[in-house]
Amino acid sequence: LRLPTLDSSDSPSADSTSHKQPFVIGVSGGTASGKTTVCDMIIQQLHDHRVVLVNQDSFYRGLTEDELRRVHEYNFDHPEAFDTEQLLECVETLKSGQPVHVPIYDFKTHQRCSDSFRQVNASDVIILEGILIFHDQRVRSLMNMKIFVDTDADVRLARRIRRDTVQRGRDINSVLEQASFLFLLCLLMSYHHVDACYFAKTMLSVQYAKFVKPAFDDFVLPSKKYADVIIPRGGDNHVAIDLIVQHIHTKLGQHDLCKIYPNVYVIHSTFQI
Ligand code: ADP
Ligand code: C5P
Repeated sequence: LRLPTLDSSDSPSADSTSHKQPFVIGVSGGTASGKTTVCDMIIQQLHDHRVVLVNQDSFYRGLTEDELRRVHEYNFDHPEAFDTEQLLECVETLKSGQPVHVPIYDFKTHQRCSDSFRQVNASDVIILEGILIFHDQRVRSLMNMKIFVDTDADVRLARRIRRDTVQRGRDINSVLEQASFLFLLCLLMSYHHVDACYFAKTMLSVQYAKFVKPAFDDFVLPSKKYADVIIPRGGDNHVAIDLIVQHIHTKLGQHDLCKIYPNVYVIHSTFQI
């Protein structure tokens, strides 16, 4: 019996009985697109497997004192804002079946907690989530499945303002300073029901650094082409999430089968008896 699947990157090694390769899923998308929500839904539905979530946010570089003084000029949406080497090392270690210490990042202070880490143990499924998780080719190459969460920009900005003011200790101006003019327009018109005249006055008083939207256009959106699956509407799209979970179950089942029956091997796309 030959079973369908896998490409070479997720085929079990000859020594598959000693260490089962985890199934690695990348989840990308713009800020507040629903990446974390989608990951949580996948994790919930995979309750009978060991699943760990690694956020790219954890690998934000801590700001220097000088950068902190001028934090409004700092671009948190540029690939250089992350320590990608450390992220890569962490995922490689996890993939090899070893536990890792993931840094804890504080969005309020823009720093990493210097004395504490989150221990992440080896698992069946590793989910890597972040706005720029598809940016680096080496990180991409560790993934067995790539998902892009595609949510409209105005919805994302509205969600981000709510989240950042409630959870990340921001005042509304600091959020808007990172956003673009168009984003702000959408926000004020559709979410706060502020009339256009008030909007124009408010707009003049806000300093726009315009980081989030340009970086989305320059780095996040171009990485969408690497996705195997694009989920419109994020966590509202139950059909897409069910299909993804079914696919993961199938892959994990094949891993298990190869472990129990080493003579059973896998090929692409068809069953053959
Ligand atoms: P990301 O991880 O892409 O930044 P999150 O999943 O953290 O996005 O979602 C950002 C914010 O939007 C959170 O406050 C979350 O509760 C909210 N949110 C996410 N998905 C939905 C949805 N489908 N409907 C309403 N609010 C949502
Ligand atoms: O959770 P989400 O994907 O939205 O996180 C990424 C966003 O966090 C980026 O768009 C970035 O602007 C923001 N960020 C921030 N402050 C930091 C680090 C990141 O506002 N210190």
